[in-house]
Amino acid sequence: MDQIHIRGGRRLEGAIAISGAKNAALTLLPCALLTDEPLTLRNLPRLADVDSFGHLLNELGVSTTTEGARRGEFGRVLTARATEVRSTTAPYDIVRKMRASVLVLGPLVARMGEATVSLPGGCAIGNRPVDLHLQALEALGAEIEVAAGYVRARAPGGLRGGTVRFPIVSVGATENALMAAVLGRGTSVIENAAREPEITDLARCLQAMGARIDGVGTSTLTIEGRDRLHGATYAVMADRIEAGSYACAAAMTGGSLELLGAREEDLAAVTAKLREAGVSVEETRRGLKVSAVDGLRPVEIETEPFPGFPTDMQAQFMAMLSLATGTSRLTETIFENRYMHVPELARMGARIEVRGRTAQVEGVGGLHGAPVMATDLRASMSLVLAGLVAEGETRVNRVYHLDRGYERLEEKLQAVGADIERLSDG
Ligand code: EPZ
Repeated sequence: MDQIHIRGGRRLEGAIAISGAKNAALTLLPCALLTDEPLTLRNLPRLADVDSFGHLLNELGVSTTTEGARRGEFGRVLTARATEVRSTTAPYDIVRKMRASVLVLGPLVARMGEATVSLPGGCAIGNRPVDLHLQALEALGAEIEVAAGYVRARAPGGLRGGTVRFPIVSVGATENALMAAVLGRGTSVIENAAREPEITDLARCLQAMGARIDGVGTSTLTIEGRDRLHGATYAVMADRIEAGSYACAAAMTGGSLELLGAREEDLAAVTAKLREAGVSVEETRRGLKVSAVDGLRPVEIETEPFPGFPTDMQAQFMAMLSLATGTSRLTETIFENRYMHVPELARMGARIEVRGRTAQVEGVGGLHGAPVMATDLRASMSLVLAGLVAEGETRVNRVYHLDRGYERLEEKLQAVGADIERLSDG
């Protein structure tokens, strides 16, 4: 397995092009199932999870072709076409490797009247149930059966309009409900919908395909179902979590990075906390410029659904606040086990104490390099960030976690001055 080696202490200066958003791409790709015409997605990131999703679509009979980046863009262009759907089954061996595969459920039932999808099971950060996805489809007229580790959803006469009321905010369940409702017969309302920018990206893509959706960006979405949707060309939004992660790198290394393509409105809760911690954040013509000023101040953070502070930035902020002049507190309210980075950061000298859902971080003067283990995507990034400032060498193992969500990580960091390399043991 590959390792990433970092020798800390370099100040990062320059510009980083932010790739297309993983969590937008993974909900835009299944939209191809909703029409027999081509869906072309631009600015698609080169990530393991995006490739896996492409393979899943091929399994279902969707043809996919990719081309290189267009002028002035970094991401790939992928065209997917579901002229006919040959299979409505997402098998266990695909779903277990990428839980976002569950996002084919809504589109398959909407297009084909049925879907058989393996239950994704839990992952490192929590048991990740899909009950809300199933509740949404039932509200739209699907019959749901769960047996032998699979969900079987059927709507022989097609889905009908209905009201989906989510008891808690769920990004994935909102995405499945939205993709199901756009082809339902009648008007549907989704209440307590997630408002993450990736949901807005999905709604905009569906509208480009002819869907009728009102309330985009709010917690109540009203959808007028259509008989069919047509193809479209759509550019994936910039990855706000990648941008936030590199913002932390600038703050921690005492440097200054311009994050090309980043949009402050996607990250307002993060930029507010960066400024509260004493970091300069300014909008530029090309994106966001993030610069360390003089040291880091402690802050209190509680993760919440958008527009609150994103759970996907908690681990990265914990690494950054390990160097603040004082004690910070981070409370993780979304996932039940998202502190796996704590023991690894502690091995690098961070002083963190977890009590229930709250981690208390006592700032230290510096960190020291160590061999560390990546456990999940964002935890891995927090270890890379710590390695960028630690004295000596840090070796991050199991970097396949990083490859799921950060395109060309070491290349982008090398270009702004980091002493980082990937060593393959293959
Ligand atoms: C999406 O996961 C993201 N993944 C996650 O990003 C992100 O952390 C999460 O949203 C929250 O923002 C993708 O978009 C591919 P949820 P998702 O449904 O949809 C509970 C990353 O690092 N829940 O909003 O799975 C669930 O257990 C990844 O890029 C149910 O109880 O998250 C959690 O506690 C990690 N029943 C809470 O809701 C359900 O049916 C929020 O989960 C669904 C969810």
